Amino acid sequence: MRDLGVYAEVAPSDTPAPELAGRKGIIISGGPASVYDPSSPTIDPALLHSGTPVLGICYGQQLMAYLLGGRVEKGERGEYGFAHADLRNSNVLLRGIEGRQQVWMSHRDLVTAPPAGFDVLASTDTCSIAAMASEAQRLYAVQFHPEVVHTPSGPRILSNFVFDICGAVKDWDPAGQVQTVEDQIRAAAAGRNIFFFVSGGVDSTVAYTLCLKALGPDRVHGTYVDTGLMREGETDFVRATFASLGAHSFAVENAAPQFLAALSGLAAPEAKRHAIGEEFVRIQQRILDSEHYLDGQWILGQGTIYPDTIESGGTAKADLIKTHHNRVAGIQRLIEEGRIVEPLASFYKDEVRTVGRQLQLPTALLDRHPFPGPGLAIRCLCSESSAAPEKVEEGWVLPVKSVGVQGDSRTYRQVLAIEDFPATDDETASLINRMERINRVVVEVWMAAKISTMRAHPAFLDDTRLDRLRQADAVVRRLTHSSGFDASVWQFPVVLIPFGTAEQPDSIVLRPIYSVDGMTASAVRMPKDLLGELVRELQKVEGVAGVFYDLTNKPPATIEWE
Ligand code: XMP
Repeated sequence: MRDLGVYAEVAPSDTPAPELAGRKGIIISGGPASVYDPSSPTIDPALLHSGTPVLGICYGQQLMAYLLGGRVEKGERGEYGFAHADLRNSNVLLRGIEGRQQVWMSHRDLVTAPPAGFDVLASTDTCSIAAMASEAQRLYAVQFHPEVVHTPSGPRILSNFVFDICGAVKDWDPAGQVQTVEDQIRAAAAGRNIFFFVSGGVDSTVAYTLCLKALGPDRVHGTYVDTGLMREGETDFVRATFASLGAHSFAVENAAPQFLAALSGLAAPEAKRHAIGEEFVRIQQRILDSEHYLDGQWILGQGTIYPDTIESGGTAKADLIKTHHNRVAGIQRLIEEGRIVEPLASFYKDEVRTVGRQLQLPTALLDRHPFPGPGLAIRCLCSESSAAPEKVEEGWVLPVKSVGVQGDSRTYRQVLAIEDFPATDDETASLINRMERINRVVVEVWMAAKISTMRAHPAFLDDTRLDRLRQADAVVRRLTHSSGFDASVWQFPVVLIPFGTAEQPDSIVLRPIYSVDGMTASAVRMPKDLLGELVRELQKVEGVAGVFYDLTNKPPATIEWE
């Protein structure tokens, strides 16, 4: 909605209808629940009889059908990924779109009979009611996701809904929000100063710059915690950036030994994320104490953006997919005490960049790929035991697990390695739809030995493995930058997995992806020459037994492996 220039807010699903009176339109979002689970979220049914236009998406369509007497059935296995919808009705919702359309599906249940008064507008091979509407009741619904980039006609559908059906007008421009956000910062600070733990990424730097503008450099301090989990050259880059912003109170804290100690012996992704989060809080606490930032004159500033709060279960009903380090218990305490300001908490990533451009921040900074707070720790997979890969008809199931998201719920499953790049991306999705124990598909690009002889083995986070990953990551960054490929992807995680031979214990996974906001993503293939060059250089990294290429979209995989 905001991309279309219309201001929109997210409200809890159980908001009473009278509180939403006066809205121009309502969208009921997707979610992982089934309408038949007793604990599944529902809406005030009065919303569907209020005359306000309502658009149900995915679970929203199922809920609308269920509450109005249609039929919703449990899907056998669900449908995740690309599908083709045949549009067969010229409803205003689909105005300007005709014929067969690529759409993005992520659902298990489905509507099998529409409520009375509804027309079926579209269907796919596996979903006979992919869109439905009752013009008279001003109710509209789609099973697919028009809000993700993989549904090319999605923006048109949303724009038909918001402008033609709801009669909304364009009234939202993130660049125009700078003044308002600065006012909010001054109000939140209430005379106090702001202390920032900056990461060097776009979000925290834009948030910091907004605070600098709002309060001046004397009232805004920054510390960069070098966790030892950062990429090569990162600390120098951050130092130079903050010097150029005119930040005069900026410090670098070397905390690498503490983080390594906190992570020692941990293998499970959530355990690692929690350990990092807690260590961040401990270090923050120590710095706050030693610098006397707790005397009431200071509050903590953060670069949290909107998707972070959604994905960490910050909105009450969103399922927990991954724990983001800035939402662990310690930080929550600061939030409860009201000693925190998050100037970007209601912005999406692309809106943050727009704000950054408005603030005239350098392009080299704004165009940086996003990098996760827990750093290379979540790209350096660990293992507590040894295990062999398992041969199946489709390829090899690797003894390595990674995080995924299906129907908006977290999964933690194995990885299928196949021998060659498949002809189409649909094949990857269908492999995952078929094999329930995997959530990711990678291609074997280069192996130092036969995959049947390789093993997963006990491995944790240590300097040797982090350096190995740092080197591989630097190789990838150098070559993708000189070839210009980095500009055509949104993010390019390089992942180290504890799978290899006795002499070369690890393998590298390349994960270039395209995305708009990190909420969904598609795997990107790179030119053959570049891949060849990358592999030649990665072979030289000590301890590397293989190179894999991750071809999985999000969903069903997440962008990061942990
Ligand atoms: P996933 O892996 O959840 O990632 O598909 C979506 C986007 O979020 C980034 N990411 C994080 N960023 N702290 C961050 O600041 C985190 O804990 C974190 N985990 C994932 C990820 O790099 C991608 O851009």
